[in-house]
Amino acid sequence: MNRRTRVGIIGAGPAGLMLSLLLSTEGIDSLVLESRSREEVETTIRAGVLEQGTVDLLTEMGLGERMKREGALHHGIELRFDGEGHRIDFYELANGRAITLYPQHEVLKDLIAARLNQGGHILFNVNDVQLYDVSSSQPRLRFVHENEQIELHCDFIAGCDGFHGVARSSIPEAKQQVFTRSYPFGWLGILMEAPPSAKELIYTYSERGFALVSTRSPELQRLYIQCDPNDDIANWSDAMILEELQLRLATRDNWKLLVGPIIQKSILAMRSFVIEPMQYGRLFLAGDAAHIVPPTGAKGLNLAVADVRHLARALTMFYKQNQTHLLEAYSTTCLRRVWRAEHFSWWMTSMLHRFPDDDAFQQRMQRAQLDYTVRSRVAATSLAENYVGLPFDW
Ligand code: APR
Ligand code: PHB
Repeated sequence: MNRRTRVGIIGAGPAGLMLSLLLSTEGIDSLVLESRSREEVETTIRAGVLEQGTVDLLTEMGLGERMKREGALHHGIELRFDGEGHRIDFYELANGRAITLYPQHEVLKDLIAARLNQGGHILFNVNDVQLYDVSSSQPRLRFVHENEQIELHCDFIAGCDGFHGVARSSIPEAKQQVFTRSYPFGWLGILMEAPPSAKELIYTYSERGFALVSTRSPELQRLYIQCDPNDDIANWSDAMILEELQLRLATRDNWKLLVGPIIQKSILAMRSFVIEPMQYGRLFLAGDAAHIVPPTGAKGLNLAVADVRHLARALTMFYKQNQTHLLEAYSTTCLRRVWRAEHFSWWMTSMLHRFPDDDAFQQRMQRAQLDYTVRSRVAATSLAENYVGLPFDW
């Protein structure tokens, strides 16, 4: 069977869904292809921090209602080291900007509902997506949906299929440059049924390694500890995880972690990855398909949203005014923000983790950086500006 759309979008993550919604507000037709089921997309636990710009965009698009009601506005974070907490006040340092804690799968539920309500199509459970003729003006996608082989004729293809997707491999190796860094540690993340232990996120540097206190809802905490990236989660009993959290988070004034049943636990790898350019012919990559950051800066979802905002604007310029300059500038425009976020995420990661080969000198360097960050208004402002997110047109 043959079908046609203007923009064929691979992947129903934040990038693909936001792109289809942004295009539809401009009357540009698209079709989203997703390999997983709707239920799986809507229940997989991922990130949870939305920058001010992401929140503003969702609100402008009329998608902010549940996020405002159920999400939590945070005006700062705590940096904790040497048994003492120091608040970084985003609201004051970053001109009234803040972050919102609202889980990524809740964002995805809102985006899917909005797209389907518009009468838009999202094909879930598609198999074997293949890209053809991406360097021509008539690229095509072939895939299987409900046992039927479909050929989708497009003007453009958006590769929004995440780090493990297929789109990126359509860029010839000679035309791409890949930059990677893997970190010698992972994060062991848990979901725990207990009320939040703190009003804001706590990023902790300790002799025993990094720990992070985050939340998902008034009844559910999200917590992480640095661990060996090759460790097996089966080696970690719930009691061991709780003990390690308590040791790393301990303060001189006896701060208490509120505890409850651990309902999920897993280990995530930490890496940085960027492909340049983010475009080849009529194929445009967006989000994790083009770049990965370690989660310490909470940038992954926000970068995906910024990419597709640029892409939607460039495609609108193409369809409405027959101009291609924004499409030509797409990769360069996105990569400026991507590399800023890569640096910020690497910087936060390097400052807050124990490295297997670090020595006393290296540890003093980390302390000096932490001390400067909490004592200097200029240094704290830099962290705040990056964390809440630089403006869209930065
Ligand atoms: N065919 C169709 N769909 C695919 C394929 C494929 N071959 N490969 C992957 N997908 C789907 C995945 O199932 C997923 O739903 O593409 C989607 C990609 O979504 P994400 O991985 O969430 O990537 P992105 O939209 O770029 O969002 C980046 O999501 O996971 C976080 O940490 C990440 O916050 C960051 C954000
Ligand atoms: C999360 O809540 O999952 C989270 C928060 C902050 C981070 C990373 C992850 O830096």
